[in-house]
This record gives sequence, C-alpha cells and structure tokens, in this order.
Amino acid sequence: PATTNSAVAATATVITNIASLVTNDPSLGDGTPLGLIQDAAVVIDGDRIAWVGEKSKAPATDNRLDAGGRAVIPGFVDSHSHLVFAGDRTAEFNARMSGQPYAAGGIRTTVAATRAATDAQLDANVARYLAEALRQGTTVMETKSGYGLTVEDEARALRIAARHTDEVTFLGAHIVSPDHADDPATYVALVTGDMLDACAPYARWVDVFCEKGAFDGDQARAILTAGRSRGLLPRVHANQLTHGPGVQLAVELDAASADHCTHLTDADVDALANSATVATLLPGAEFSTRAEWPDARRLIDAGATVALSTDCNPGSSFTSSVPFCIALAVRDMGMTPDEALWSATAGGAAALRRTDVGRLTPGARADLVLLDAPSHVHLAYRPGVPLVSQVWRSGRRTV
Ligand code: NIG
Ligand code: FE
Repeated sequence: PATTNSAVAATATVITNIASLVTNDPSLGDGTPLGLIQDAAVVIDGDRIAWVGEKSKAPATDNRLDAGGRAVIPGFVDSHSHLVFAGDRTAEFNARMSGQPYAAGGIRTTVAATRAATDAQLDANVARYLAEALRQGTTVMETKSGYGLTVEDEARALRIAARHTDEVTFLGAHIVSPDHADDPATYVALVTGDMLDACAPYARWVDVFCEKGAFDGDQARAILTAGRSRGLLPRVHANQLTHGPGVQLAVELDAASADHCTHLTDADVDALANSATVATLLPGAEFSTRAEWPDARRLIDAGATVALSTDCNPGSSFTSSVPFCIALAVRDMGMTPDEALWSATAGGAAALRRTDVGRLTPGARADLVLLDAPSHVHLAYRPGVPLVSQVWRSGRRTV
C-alpha cells in the first residue's frame, strides 16, 4: 500500500530511526488495528504523508530528521470540546471536591461570563486552549458554542470558533436559556428558527445536551432534525448523568457520535454496536465530577466504535490533555493502551467522519507526534509525564 520510492520527491522530509510507528492501518506492520511498524521511517511531502515503512527501506530525500528511537503516533483527534467561554468555575470545582454533586445548572455561570466578554477575549481564550492542546499532541480539535444561548451570542461564538478550527458545532441547545427558563418550548422554537439561521453558516455539526434538566428526547429530535435540514450533521451529548433517550436518538438519526455514554442499557450498547454512530467517551468529565466511569470494555466487546476525547470545558472537564484521558481510560475504563491510542486518533477521526486524519498512511495529512518514549504504551504507563516532544501538523513542525 505504500507509494513506490520513485514517487517520493527529493525535497520531501524523512523522519527515520523511529522505534515504533503507529499507522492505524491494519494492513501494515504487525497487522493489529494500530498497524505498528518497528524500526520505522515516515516520509512527509508537503502537507501529506508520502511513504511509511521500515527505516531500512526508506527512500532517500534531501531532509532527514533522526527520531533517535522515539515513538511516532498520529496527532490526536479531539472530537469534543467547549472552548468558546470566558471565566472559570474554580469555586464550583472546590465545592464539588467537598462533596457537592455536579449539575447542568452550573452552565449558567459560564453563560453569564461569556456574554459579558468581548470578542477579543473569547478569541484569545480559544487560541490559548487550542495552543495548550497542540502542545499536548492534539492536531485536530472540534469545538462547540453553547455558552451564549441568544441568537447573537451563539452566532458570535461560532464565528470565533470558525477562525481557529474547521470542526465547529452549534450547541444552542446546551441548556434552556435562562431568558426562557419558564418556557422551554419558546426556546426550542428559537434554537430551531432564528438561532439556527444565524449559526448554520459557521458550523459543520449540530449537537444537543439530551439530559434531565436540559432537553428531552422529543426536543432533542426536533433540534437535530432542524439542524440536519440546514446541512448540519448531528452529534449528541447522550446518557451522561442518567439513563436517557440520547443514545437511541443518536443512532436513529445516524449521528456521527453519541458522546459521554456513561449510563447505558444493554439495548443502548446493542444499538451503538449495530450502527455507524461512534461512542465518544470523555473520562475527564467523570474524573472532574467524581462520577462513575463509562464502560469502554463493554462497548468494545460488543463491537461499538469508541473514541476518546477531552470534553474540555470550565464546568465538567477542564483539561485539554488527551494523554491524561488515555491514562484514565486504561486505568479505569478497561481499555488496553493500544485501544486507547486508537480511540484517541482513528476513533476521534471516525467521530468526525474524517478519513484524512487519525492515521499515518500515504495520502493522509501529515499530522504526527514524536514521543519521548519508545512506544505509545508509555502514555498510560507514565501518566502525567509530558512525553510529547514534537508535533507536526499539515507537514510542518509546530511544537
Ligand atoms: O459535556 N454536559 C454538558 N455539557 C458539558 C458541561 C458543560 C459545563 O458544565 O459547563 C459536558 O460535560
Ligand atoms: Fe460536552
């Protein structure tokens, strides 16, 4: 499957002396889902991968980088975050760590702070958290609105998000706006009407927080269907705090992803396993809310596709670190280090219905991470240690 050596331009860059290379192509290397190649090399031509294979067979190019026995993995694809916000919720976190439960109502605190912020402040915040994630190996990051909840504030959030990432999600249905607290039907009409009109041009996705205290199944269906009629593809915050209709709805609407999946019935697991809807697990949220862990083992054993993402947001999961989420998933959710790495790269790409990222094979975007470790297993084996040594995005070294 690799291109022939003669097809590689002399001006390309070869990264050689890679102890282990994760390609996520099972037809390569050891034949596992990670397609692991030992003693490998990668050739980058422009913004693309031109060749991968054993270092002894690498084509000659003008530029050569010696990886010095480091591991190379695809850049992380973080398919779920909420970066357009102002302020933080330190007091709420402190209270929670003293025994208070997490509730969706805390979102209102961030809505007030976000509405009060200037465009420049919000823009700087998004840039800061994306840069923070990039330093930790994330080369694609989805992000959502959801802390504006008026037509103007939601459109503003998406306009700002779209300056920084192509993966932009309209989440006007995060909670019922405090302006319509007594009249959720009017708020749903706004979200599916004027707000959608103002927001659709900036977004690729539509999302709903389907949960007690947020939106029920019928409201969520109305919002996702309206979004779909405007060309937005659905994804759902599903079954996070309680059992609910979110997962079944996601599958019914062929959503790209059902996110959280913490409280699942056997029927929910079956529905995911027999669908193209990815189960995106967000262990940073369970960590920061002291909630029970989603059962990745059960989902994988049933045949569901699992993604791992940060859910980076100031309320339930204020981490931008995919390596941290990998360590949690391996320690507490029954994933092997190989499965966790796959879910944080190829799984995230599947949750965004992307085939150009999340893998290192000829033709893919040259998004890759050099680890200060001989293999990707160290991401879980050495938790909390900053192992990301270099990050390349679209063929350029960025970290
Ligand atoms: O994915 N669950 C809903 N939304 C976020 C939390 C948002 C917040 O608490 O500010 C989540 O966990
Ligand atoms: Fe979320």
